[in-house]
Amino acid sequence: NLPGLPTLRGQAPLIIGHRGSSGTRPEHTLEAYRVAIEAGADFIEPDLVVTKDGVLVARHEPVIAVLSPDGKVQEATTDVAARPEFKDRVRTKTLDGQAITGYWAEDFTLAELKTMRAVERLPQLRGRAYDGRFEVPTLAEVIALVREVEARTGRKVGLYPETKHPTFVAQVAGRDISQLLIDTLKKEHFTDPARVFIQSFEVGNLRALKTRIMPAAGVNLPLVQLVSSPDEAPYDWTAAGDGRKYGALTTDAALRDIATYASGVGAYKRWIIDDQGRTTDFVSRAHRAGLLVHSWTFRNEPTYLLPAYANDPEAEMRQALRAGVDGLFTDFPATGARVVGQY
Ligand code: G3P
Ligand code: CA
Repeated sequence: NLPGLPTLRGQAPLIIGHRGSSGTRPEHTLEAYRVAIEAGADFIEPDLVVTKDGVLVARHEPVIAVLSPDGKVQEATTDVAARPEFKDRVRTKTLDGQAITGYWAEDFTLAELKTMRAVERLPQLRGRAYDGRFEVPTLAEVIALVREVEARTGRKVGLYPETKHPTFVAQVAGRDISQLLIDTLKKEHFTDPARVFIQSFEVGNLRALKTRIMPAAGVNLPLVQLVSSPDEAPYDWTAAGDGRKYGALTTDAALRDIATYASGVGAYKRWIIDDQGRTTDFVSRAHRAGLLVHSWTFRNEPTYLLPAYANDPEAEMRQALRAGVDGLFTDFPATGARVVGQY
């Protein structure tokens, strides 16, 4: 317990290795997760997408390489675009209202994905020292890593999976990503509610997990409603469960609604800290609704810091902790663990 910090239950804030230690290794690789765990992360975060044969793998988005109109790689998390045997797999699909051309996880079998290698998504910022060295891991392999650490060290690191674009996945691949997640967690015997948070931006997805999918499977894991930028259009929380995402959230009533199906909110950090570096009332209002607040994304690079913290990532983290957040998603879990360790 850290009585100096106003967390919901007086517990120490969690350090969540965002996509692993993605500031120092290519995101969503076993190596990135291993480094995050060694750095002191309490949880590691796999974003989940689905393969053609219905296996959950860790990637930030279903699109694993985005191409520009002239066919050049714009952004990629794998080397798929450099592989001649996959040249005919380029597709244009609409994701979040945006037409994107590239290669998509759901168009490849797991065996095909396993022949690819991870590449750094932000090479201009983080370099390419580790490109080509690591595979795309399955969720089962991420769980095996956590188990191996537990067997070796006794440390019980948790998993913080995000179901990516459930409605899109259902439409383009005919798969229920949340059902696959619960099936995999059950199969791998990883259903301890103290060691799993399931997060999603999509409201209907979380409601389905809470009311249908988890009860049918006999598991009850805490859910976290992701809440994006305060600048986005507000979600109509009075609507029935659907594929929409929580955008701007300003009312206590909306927070109370989230509390009917979720244990916490995963809030973009501008909800917590304003442009002047002052804390807002968001955390205390969420806590009043009984919700944990886990905030994202804390990074060391100046380009990602809020304006008031242009050169001081640790000060930005400390300000969020002073506001009472119950956890920090960070690409640099070593920094996060050091900051939390100061309290
Ligand atoms: O899950 C918290 C945060 O990771 C949400 O954004 O795009 O990094 O998955 P994203
Ligand atoms: Ca995520």
